[in-house]
This record gives sequence, C-alpha cells and structure tokens, in this order.
Amino acid sequence: MEIAAPQHRPLTVRKAPMFELLKPMPADPLLQIITAHRADPREDKIDLGVGVYRDEAGHTPVMRAVKAAEKILVGEQPSKGYLGIVGDPIFTDLLRPIIFGAERGDAELIPAVQTPGGGGALRLGAELIATARPSAKLWLGTPSWPNHRPIFEAVGVEVREYAFADLHKQELLFDPMMDALSEASAGDVVLLHGCCHNPTGLDLDHAQWEAVADLCARNGLVPFVDLAYQGLGENLEADAAGFRTIFDKVPELLLAYSCDKNFGLYRERTGALYVKAPNNELARNVASNLAVHARVSWSMPPDHGAAVVRKILEDADLTSDWRAELSDMAQRIHAVRSAIASAAEPLAPIARQHGLFSNLAVSTAQVDALRKEYGIYIAPSGRMNVMGLRIEDAPRLADALTSVGVIPKQ
Ligand code: LMR
Repeated sequence: MEIAAPQHRPLTVRKAPMFELLKPMPADPLLQIITAHRADPREDKIDLGVGVYRDEAGHTPVMRAVKAAEKILVGEQPSKGYLGIVGDPIFTDLLRPIIFGAERGDAELIPAVQTPGGGGALRLGAELIATARPSAKLWLGTPSWPNHRPIFEAVGVEVREYAFADLHKQELLFDPMMDALSEASAGDVVLLHGCCHNPTGLDLDHAQWEAVADLCARNGLVPFVDLAYQGLGENLEADAAGFRTIFDKVPELLLAYSCDKNFGLYRERTGALYVKAPNNELARNVASNLAVHARVSWSMPPDHGAAVVRKILEDADLTSDWRAELSDMAQRIHAVRSAIASAAEPLAPIARQHGLFSNLAVSTAQVDALRKEYGIYIAPSGRMNVMGLRIEDAPRLADALTSVGVIPKQ
C-alpha cells in the first residue's frame, strides 16, 4: 500500500494581532535623569534627580554594617532555598520595635509580608484594598511620589487628589488638607508620608498628626502610611512618631516600609508591608489575602537585602554601627540643607524641611535651562534631591536658580 506524502500548504500568518495596539509610553521622568546625567561630559555637573543619599564625594556608599553583614552571609548562609511567600518572618519581626516602638507591633494583630522594596509594599497594600473594598477611594495629597497614583490606579482604586503643599511659599496646606479629607467616606484610604515627605520635605508636625489621626478615627478612614526614610529626617524614633500617633488611634491601618534608604540597600529592593487589623480573626484573613496577592505578583520576595538587615539587627555591634552611620547621614542631610538655605534668602525654608527632597516651583523652561546652561539636573516637577549636592556647591546652585528665575535676585 502506498502512503500519501503529506501536503505542505504554505502557512498564512495573520497580521500581528497584539503589539501594534500599544501606544508608546513616556520614559519615567525621574529615572531618565540618571541616564541623561551619565551622558553629560561636563565634570562639574550636578545630579539632584533620583532619591539616593550621597556623601560629600558624591558617592552612595554601602553602609559599614551592610558590608560586614554581607561578608558574614557569604561565609555562613547555609542555603539559597526558597523562604516562602511572606519572606523571612524574623526580618519583619526584627523591624517591629524600630517601626512601632517597644510597646506595639504585636505580630498576631499586625501581619507582615517581606516585599520587593517599599514600592512592592505599596502595590501589595493596594491589591489588598482593591480586594477588601473595591469602592474605596485613595486620598492623595499632591505633589506626591510620582508612582503613588499609578500604583493604585493599576489595581483599579480610584484616586482623589487634594493640594498638600504650596510650592511658591514652601508651606504645607494643612487646613485645605483637612477640608479635603473631611469629604472622604468611611472605608476610604488616606495615603500619608511617614516622614521626609517625597517630594517636598514638608512633614506634618505632632499636632497635625494628631488632628489627621482623630479625623481618620472619627470618620472611619484607613491610613496607608508610606515610611521609606525612617532615620533620615531627625532620627529613628522621631521619624516614626507621627506614624505611631495615628497607629494608636485607628483600628485598621497599612504601613509600607522600605529599608532601601535607611540601610542603603536600594538595588536589593528590601521592604515590608504591615497591616493592622482590629482583631486576630481579621488579621488572619488579612494575612491569607496578602499571601495570595504576593504569590500572584512575585511568588516570593527577593531576600539578600532582608538577610542583610536581619544579620545587622541580630547583632548588637552591627546594629549600633548601623545606627551611628545612619545618624551621621541624617546630620549630613541637615548640613547640606543649611548650606542651601544660607546661600540665598528665598531658599531659607529648605533648612526646616526633612529628608532628601525639596520641591521648588519651576517651569519646564527653567528645568531645561538649569540642565543646559549649568549642568544641574532636577526632576521636571522641580523636585531636588538635595543630597546630590556637595556643600561647597550650594552657592553655585543658588546662583543658577537665581539666573534662570526660579528664585528672585537679592
Ligand atoms: C525617588 O523618589 O527618587 C526614589 O524613591 C526612587 C524611585 O523609585 O522613584
């Protein structure tokens, strides 16, 4: 019997059905500054873009305790096997007293998940909110970290913005903030920067934290605190005080925590989400929902940064060295801020702000002129990472800001 040879018909390929539907997206304006600054051949260029701490030589150092902990890990770490969906509970537990203070932080009531940086914690919290209460709105003071809004919108949470700061006066708009938040409904979420407000450096004072906490407690609003710079404002205790005030007054709260800045672990993406539930049963529900979302999003978190933090916090000498270096970093931030503030009178408010950032009122043309004429790179929004500046360059920055018209001539 003869077997028929297979017929080879030419394959007709359909027109590309997928990617032609994509529209080009703009590059991230903050991260673009890194590339543009790197390509600039001028030796005296100044990068005030992305939020990293820099020393007086312009370096972002690996902290001493981190280096030491890494050496120990290389020698001792017995396995790189998976940790599990929530990461290493010892890591999240060791951070509890630092964040919550000795008397709070009960792991039963406040489940935690190790996350890829503070951004991962925000995203995981946003997922939890979208699952628990899809109608919840997120109240966001502007300006804020440019990624806040898209993170919540990506999971379908509606974002309501209100004006948080007057950039011309370099002042908080506290009364308008309270007016806006009084419009929020029970179950809505209020995003708050725990300290070192990104991008303005304008933090709530104690009385203002109390007032926001009372409003949240009275109206059933759920605070979502983003604490990404603890220790870089005043010190570890003072920088957590506002968060603790609000924590004590409300039954439910989310906290996105980052070790990327205060341990200098940026690229290791080291963070955690803590969620306060009103009772143990609801806390278990929260924990199981968080585990599902984390599993779907990244399965299991990266661990090197968290392992380093754990090593440091398990060792009294490493912990005290980390605290000392962090405190030196905070001192340097104050010194740079003072230098900028003394370089020109209109920049005086910068000395009263906290953390890495200040946000000037600028036009696009002024940002372009700073870059082209003076080699000074700031975000298009006018945000400056003041730690990109060497103290000796403060007068140069003030002169450039004056000559492009950001601040008036003296
Ligand atoms: C920043 O605000 O510059 C940092 O938090 C880095 C980032 O991811 O935007």
